[in-house]
Amino acid sequence: MKNNIVALLSQNIPEISNEELMQLVEIPPKTDMGDFAFPCFRLAKVYRKAPPMIAQDLKEKIGDVDFLDKIEVQGGYLNFFVKKEKFAQQIIEDYLNTKDFGSSSEGEGQTICIDYSSPNVAKNFHVGHLRTTIIGNSLHKIFKKLGYNVVRINHLGDWGTQFGKLIVAYKKWGSKEAVEKDGISELMSIYVKFHDEAEKDPSLNDEARAWFTKMEHGDEEALSIWRWFLDISLKEFMRVYDILGMDFDSYNGESFYNDKMPAVIEELKEKNLITVSDGAQIVDLEEYNMPPCLITKKDGSSLYATRDIAAALYRQNTYHFTKCLYVTGLEQKLHFAQWFKVIELMGYDWYKGLVHIPYGLVSLKSGKLSTRKGNVLYAEDILKESIQKIREIIDEKNPDLPDKETVAKQVGIGAIIFNDLYNQRIKDVLFDWDKLLNFDGETGPYVQYTYARAASVLRKIGEVPSTFDYSILTDEASMALLKEISRFPDVVKDAAEKYEPCVVARYAVSLAQTFNKFYHDCQINVEDDATRYTRANVVSIVKNIIKAALDLLGISCPEQM
Ligand code: ARG
Repeated sequence: MKNNIVALLSQNIPEISNEELMQLVEIPPKTDMGDFAFPCFRLAKVYRKAPPMIAQDLKEKIGDVDFLDKIEVQGGYLNFFVKKEKFAQQIIEDYLNTKDFGSSSEGEGQTICIDYSSPNVAKNFHVGHLRTTIIGNSLHKIFKKLGYNVVRINHLGDWGTQFGKLIVAYKKWGSKEAVEKDGISELMSIYVKFHDEAEKDPSLNDEARAWFTKMEHGDEEALSIWRWFLDISLKEFMRVYDILGMDFDSYNGESFYNDKMPAVIEELKEKNLITVSDGAQIVDLEEYNMPPCLITKKDGSSLYATRDIAAALYRQNTYHFTKCLYVTGLEQKLHFAQWFKVIELMGYDWYKGLVHIPYGLVSLKSGKLSTRKGNVLYAEDILKESIQKIREIIDEKNPDLPDKETVAKQVGIGAIIFNDLYNQRIKDVLFDWDKLLNFDGETGPYVQYTYARAASVLRKIGEVPSTFDYSILTDEASMALLKEISRFPDVVKDAAEKYEPCVVARYAVSLAQTFNKFYHDCQINVEDDATRYTRANVVSIVKNIIKAALDLLGISCPEQM
């Protein structure tokens, strides 16, 4: 319908391109301002006239149009009132004629790599990693919907001097039994002990460095201990991914680039980018107002940034990405800015496709989340706690619900994911159980509950022919709902453009609210066949779109709740 309006305007305003008209045409905040509005302010310069006069002229020029009820001038705006039946028909037909509504082919032939989750081996999978996992997974789904080929990369933090420390700590104070029993918790506690002891005896640091150097040179003893730590950690990480139902295309972590580093350092030297400073090799970035990017330490060992540079080159050569996204906390902003600059200085034009996607912190309303040893928050515990809380709610409110365990999982996890994605990434996420589990709030459970309600309505009505009588959809609640339906494809595009899953999350709430209003105002299971069929078919469309929207966030929907 917007296209029709734009076509109409374009016939009468040759001075402005179709594209710009498309951007200018708005959807007014109130229905008494019409279904679409065209602000004439942009034309004031072109025609040297006041906007209200321009609007009046345009109205006269346009005259009567078959798909419009009327056009009104309000201030500098031209307000279009679409013939409701026609409008309804067009929206429904649009939906029915698209195979996977909301999808598009804009990304066809292009690859996007998304580097996310990427927890650190021998460290706990904490709430920050939960954020990158949830955001990265959603971005992956959003870009896939737009036809991109997406590569999900888990850049595990499985390499670096900390493993030298861990080996020393294990040899001095660890035991196989304890590590096998307590896994990452035990590795973390011997790591902490290492730091305490190294304060008293700095020679421990030299020992640790020597072990990491052994790792970098392929020493079998060092590597076998490291590999064991890696296995233990991966097992715990996998438990989190299993609960979330998420997966990756590549688990190539930092260690994968160990043998690719010398070539990178060589290339940096050839391109005259390396400066030696105090024995370390760096890329000086003073000219760009940034501290230097560290490439090798004094002892020759590589650093986080070196491995990121090697990884980017590898990914470009392997996947030929148009974009490579890095989802991490905001605190790593400088790190990415630095090595993105290095790639640019190396002369690679594709540096433009490297994008850092930062996010804010997680804060807790009360310190009441269960913690393990040392007051550290584990993502796994939080997910389990959420599921448990939903289990209790179900047992209290709907004890006979079939398949309770699956529903508790879907809703418990959905609540956590939704809470994470409802605001802009950069905002801190507040963990407040009462709020995020509230079935009436702007929450995952609320949207899922709306979905289940739609499912239940349809179950009661049973099969109906897929016919529509558009004259039944002209009331306010139905029109509002249809307009929400029609927004979905733009919502997906907008979310991708901004790398913001919250655009989809907010849409899901708004669609659910509009549906609930429709459900309240328009009785669905009525005697009259035409009305019943039409409304049931609309419910079915909404149900599908809620499911699709939640799927883009990584949330699944129970049919009954
Ligand atoms: N392992 C890092 C961390 O936990 C995140 C890695 C992000 N990805 C990257 N290519 N640097 O902070």
